[in-house]
Amino acid sequence: MDYKQKVTAALATALDGQLTAEEIASKLERPKTSDKGDLAFPTFTLAKVLHRAPQQIAQDLADKLDTIDFEKVEVVGPYLNFFFDKSAYSEATLATVLTAGASYGQNEDGEGGNVPIDMSSPNIAKPMSMGHLRSTVIGNSIAEILTKNGYHPIKDNHLGDWGTQFGKLITAYKLWGNEADVKADPINKLVEYYVRFHKEDVDKPELDDTAREWFKKLEDGDEEAHHLWEWFREASLQEFNDVYEELGVKFDTYNGEAFYNDKLAEVVQILKDKHLLVESQGAQVVDLSKYDLNPALILKSDGASLYITRDIATALYRDRTYAPAKNLYVVGSEQTYYFKQLKAVLKEMGVKSADNLQHVPFGLITVDGKKLSTRSGRIILLAKVLEESVKLAGEEINEKNPDLKNKDAVAQQVGVGAIVFGDLKNERTNNIDFVLADQLKFEGETGPYVQYSHARAESILRKAGDVTVANAGNQVADPEAWDTIKALADFPAIVKMACNELEPSVVAKYAIRLAKTFNKYYAHSKILTKDADLPARLALVKAVSTVLKESLRLLGVQAPDEM
Ligand code: ARG
Repeated sequence: MDYKQKVTAALATALDGQLTAEEIASKLERPKTSDKGDLAFPTFTLAKVLHRAPQQIAQDLADKLDTIDFEKVEVVGPYLNFFFDKSAYSEATLATVLTAGASYGQNEDGEGGNVPIDMSSPNIAKPMSMGHLRSTVIGNSIAEILTKNGYHPIKDNHLGDWGTQFGKLITAYKLWGNEADVKADPINKLVEYYVRFHKEDVDKPELDDTAREWFKKLEDGDEEAHHLWEWFREASLQEFNDVYEELGVKFDTYNGEAFYNDKLAEVVQILKDKHLLVESQGAQVVDLSKYDLNPALILKSDGASLYITRDIATALYRDRTYAPAKNLYVVGSEQTYYFKQLKAVLKEMGVKSADNLQHVPFGLITVDGKKLSTRSGRIILLAKVLEESVKLAGEEINEKNPDLKNKDAVAQQVGVGAIVFGDLKNERTNNIDFVLADQLKFEGETGPYVQYSHARAESILRKAGDVTVANAGNQVADPEAWDTIKALADFPAIVKMACNELEPSVVAKYAIRLAKTFNKYYAHSKILTKDADLPARLALVKAVSTVLKESLRLLGVQAPDEM
């Protein structure tokens, strides 16, 4: 039941071809409160074309309008306010939601097209930072949203498991490290070596030469170097996997930078064949001055590859393996310039990904006002933040619902959900300062609030038993119910918008809106009263529960039935 279409059609007829359907649709507004109607058409911009005052235009249109589809149409100053037929609209909306269940809002716009999503991509031998958390949860949510829009996402963890830093790490380990220490506490120990390396190389520049040599050895397949590298990688991955498990995020591939090591020669060959490589102080670069960008350094003077060299190989590989419909990189906005360079080099090479490669940037995250940096040793361990959040959620639950069964499992879902939702409700390019306590509140715009609303709906349904959609149209006399119905009806459009903008916050904000209207309804009505409209009210509750749960799922957040 697409009312926007009905309003557009009625106006198009009344306007007699003076505006196209598209122009009309783009002017329609949603009034802030339902007492001003469900859709409004402002007439200001018509005044010039029609040479009449907007108020007059509104009145003339109202006189001509076929209002059969609407409860009423009111003229208020320069506005035409349309009121939908609440009974028919409610009945149709609820029937649609309840018939579709979890697949409500599913569309096939993506036609099954492959979409590799470069996401999470933490660096081996370093802790996963809050920035990598953002990439993980944003990428994961975008994957769910893409699936809901008929695409086929491929979640690829482009681990930072290659590069000169491994030369530094091997150097440091051989100087100061020992096996037992690393085995006991891998990432912390490796970070310690790395930090020490950077402290000492200020006075001992020869350390950098040793590090360069080790990395060169690693690239050339030296056995000792390779063995150490593999060990560091495995140990780090184990710690990362703990975090992924906690977040409930799975990857399709873990093709880190090292995966492309044997694919770099081809990249260099193509660049040579196209005469794109030029020498600069012994190194090989691609000139990007025609893009107004700094040259891209492809090979160091000792022949070692760089981050971008491996990314070029990655782009080629994804083109060939997936023939992507979209090709997404969920990486912080501090790499915006870098991705411009990458795209420019690919363009010069004439490869397909030059056009569809899309950097999906996100802002910085600080925790209680502090920035994150591994080099300085000032790091906030993600695992610690998650642990703390689960602990606080447990305390909250103990207080609110001491008799709850499987409290630990619920605390886990709420604590983790609070962090994920707290991140995703922000437009991704915004910088966030994360104050954990705020995200855990059961009230306000938080994950636990949405989860709690869902649990509340489930609890009503448990008390009520069987649900039927019968008489769904009868229960909308109550204005709170009407706002909830309209929110439910908006979900399919929200799913599309979130996909077009690659913006999970669209879904998160929607979930908050639906939870709020539902809670208002709940506060104002006696839902479980045994009268003729009970089945209709329960149908509404069931629909709300379904859509809240599905919204949370799109964000990668669990929806416990009790909390
Ligand atoms: N490992 C990198 C970092 O932590 C992010 C990698 C992003 N993906 C890519 N294909 N460049 O900064």
